[in-house]
Formats: sequence, structure tokens, C-alpha cells
Amino acid sequence: MNKRQFFKTGILGIGALLVSSKLKALEYYPTKPGTKWAVVFSTWCGSSRDAGVWISEGMDGIADVFDVRENPDISKYKNIVIGGSIRSSKVSDEMQQFIANNKSELRGKVRGLFAVCGNMMQPPTNEQTNSLIDNHLAKLCGVENVPSKVFLGRVTYGLMDESSRQMLQGFNMPEYDNLKRAECMAFGKEIKSSV
Ligand SMILES: Cc1cc2nc3c(=O)[nH]c(=O)nc-3n(C[C@H](O)[C@H](O)[C@H](O)COP(=O)(O)O)c2cc1C
Repeated sequence: MNKRQFFKTGILGIGALLVSSKLKALEYYPTKPGTKWAVVFSTWCGSSRDAGVWISEGMDGIADVFDVRENPDISKYKNIVIGGSIRSSKVSDEMQQFIANNKSELRGKVRGLFAVCGNMMQPPTNEQTNSLIDNHLAKLCGVENVPSKVFLGRVTYGLMDESSRQMLQGFNMPEYDNLKRAECMAFGKEIKSSV
């Protein structure tokens, strides 16, 4: 291989890597080929990413898992699970926008909804299900009575932007980790068996 060919091959290789890393995202997490399931999550510091992956694991890895910021094309999926972390009682603007942009594509496909919140480290009750799922995420998606779950999440100060960190520390909030893989997997099984 001469010098020119060497550089050409190198540049093509790097280009291919950049393209594939943009398109593949979380597809390398355990999943089944030709899946008709997708989990789309929104997160700031990662709790909902882990919840999304663990929900898919509970479904025996049948779902592709996407961060909503990838703006995934969901047209090839028949079954979609939507969920996100909560700040100021809402999912992220990106998730709200994604749902609005995909309203017609989501119609008849939403099989499960989840929210991940702090809830002052208290176990979620019907109140959180009502406010975060029934009166928020379900309304955004235009669905009723799909399997849903509110999980407790995490606070990791080192991952947080400065103003959020100051806000939470102003409440004397300690770091915590209340997200449970077993609960996420159980919810995945519930969703799968509901279809
Ligand atoms: C700025 C900020 C606002 C928050 N607002 C709420 C809230 O309104 N209700 C709640 O239960 N938890 C709230 N939380 C806690 C988060 O929902 C919780 O830490 C969650 O696990 C974060 O998810 P993430 O790791 O995916 O970003 C808030 C956290 C931050 C940093």
C-alpha cells in the first residue's frame, strides 16, 4: 500500500466509525435482531438510561434502547416504551418535544410509561403516579391505562450542572442511589406480558 492509499483508507475508516457511532448508540446493549420494540428515555445524569436498559433486560433484551436526544426514527418499531427523569415535576424539554413531534407515529404503539424521580427519597405512592404519569407523560403521549411505573432515582453531584447542584444542596439533599435493577426488570416483564 503506497502512502496515498494508506491515508485514503485511514480517512475512509475514520469516516465509517463516525457514521456508525452516530447511528448505533445503545444498540450494542443486549438486544435481539429485528426487534419490534424500542425504549426511548430522557435523562440528565443517567438514572433513566439505566432504568431503560434494565427494563429492556426484563423483556429478555428484546428492545433497542435510545436516548431521546438521538431523535430515533421510531417508524420501524411496533411497540414503544417511553420514560424519563423528572425535574420540577416534568420530563425534559427534549422528551416533551420528541413526543409532540412523533404524536402520530406513537399512536397505538405505546406499551409502557415510566418516570424516575427523587421524591425526597420517599417511596412513590399513587400521588406520584397521578402527577408524573397519568396527568403528565400519559397526557403528552395521548394514552390511558398502559402499564406504568414511577421509580426512585439517584443524585450524583459530580454529574450535575452547577445551578442544579446548588439547588439540591440548598435543600441539604445528600447523594443517594435508590434505583433498583430488579424493579426495572420486573416492570419490563410486566410490559412484555401485557402485549
Ligand atoms: C434540578 C433538579 C430538579 C429535580 N426535581 C425533582 C422533582 O420535581 N420531583 C422529584 O421527585 N425529583 C426531582 N429531582 C430528582 C431527580 O428526578 C432524580 O435525581 C433523578 O434520579 C434524576 O434522574 P437522572 O439521573 O436521569 O438525571 C430533581 C433533581 C434535580 C437535579
